Amino acid sequence: DRKPRVLSGIQPTADSFHIGNYLGALRQWVRMQDTHECFYSVVDLHAITVEQDPAVLRHRTRVAAAQLLALGLDPERCTLFVQSQVPAHTQLSWVMECLTGFGEASRMTQFKDKSQRGGADRSSVGLFTYPILQAADILAYQADAVPVGEDQRQHLELTRNLAQRFNARYGPTFVVPEPYILKSTAKIYDLTEPRAKMSKSLPGGTLDLLAPVKASVKRIKSAVTDTEREIRYDEENKPGVSNLLGLLSELREVPIPALEQEYAGRGYGDLKSDLAAAFVAFAEPVQARVQEYLTDPAALDKVLDLGAQRARQVADVTAATVYEKVGL
Ligand code: ADP
Ligand code: NA
Repeated sequence: DRKPRVLSGIQPTADSFHIGNYLGALRQWVRMQDTHECFYSVVDLHAITVEQDPAVLRHRTRVAAAQLLALGLDPERCTLFVQSQVPAHTQLSWVMECLTGFGEASRMTQFKDKSQRGGADRSSVGLFTYPILQAADILAYQADAVPVGEDQRQHLELTRNLAQRFNARYGPTFVVPEPYILKSTAKIYDLTEPRAKMSKSLPGGTLDLLAPVKASVKRIKSAVTDTEREIRYDEENKPGVSNLLGLLSELREVPIPALEQEYAGRGYGDLKSDLAAAFVAFAEPVQARVQEYLTDPAALDKVLDLGAQRARQVADVTAATVYEKVGL
C-alpha cells in the first residue's frame, strides 16, 4: 500500500519567502517528504489572478523554486513543479467551474477579503474562480491530504464538495481529500506590529530569507517589544516578546518554557542578539544554496522539467479520465 499523497502549492508573488512561510508551511513540506508521496507546486497561474509584471513573475517563479530546494525539498523524494507547465490543471479547472454553482463560488470569503482593496468589480474573474483552480490542482493528483491552515479550510471544503459531486454524477473518479491540519504549526507575527500576522502584504515587518542578513539583524534588533523588562511568554499582554520567543523556539527547536528559564533575569537585548544569530545561522546557508541554483539555470531547469514530467504523468491521466466521463 502506498504512502498517502499530498499536494501543496505556494505563489511566486514576492522576492523572497519570509520566516513565517517557512515555519508555518514550508518546513512541514520538507518533513512530509518522509511520510507522504509529495507533489509541490510553484503556483504561477494563481499569481496572475492579480496583475504581475511578466519578467518579474518569471524570475520570482525560479527564485521560489530555488528557495524550496535550498530549504530541503529533494527532487528524489518529492515532485517539485511549476503549475503552468502542467496544462491538466487548467483543463480540469474548466470542468470543475462548470460543476460549481455561482452562489457557491460567491460564498468564498477570501475573495471578499482579497477584492476589498480594489473592489469586486475591478477584480479579475480569475481571482473569483481561483478556489476552483485550487480544487483542480488537488484533484488532478488524487491527493489524499492537503496541508492547510485555517484560512484555507473553506476552499478545501469546496474541493471536497466538487469531488463528491463529480463522483456522484459520473461515477467514482476522484479521491475526496482530507484536510491535513498541521499540528502546532508556528504562527509568526510582524516584527513591528506584533498583533498582525507576518505577511508579504506588510513588508516592513517581515524577516525575509533572502534579504541581506545585516538588514534582518537590524529588523530583529528594532523589533517592537514593551516597556517591561521581563522575558515571559504572554501573547495577550506581551505580543512582541512572545513572538521573539516563538521565533527562537522554532529556529532552535527548544520549547518556550525552557527559553523562559534560560532568559530569566536577562534583558530584551540578549534575546534579540540570540535570535539574530539563530536567524543568520539559518538564512546564510539557504542564501548560498539559492545562489548556486540561480547561477546554474540549466540545473534548475532540469529539476523543474523532470518535476513537470512526473506531474504530467499523473495529472494527464486524471484529465483524460475526466474528459472521457464528461463526454468530451
Ligand atoms: P503571506 O501571508 O506573506 O502573503 P502566503 O499567503 O503566500 O504568505 O502564505 C504561504 C504559506 O505560508 C501559507 O501556507 C501560509 O499559511 C504560510 N504563512 C504565511 N504567513 C505566515 C505566518 N505569519 N505564520 C505562519 N505561517 C504563515
Ligand atoms: Na496571505
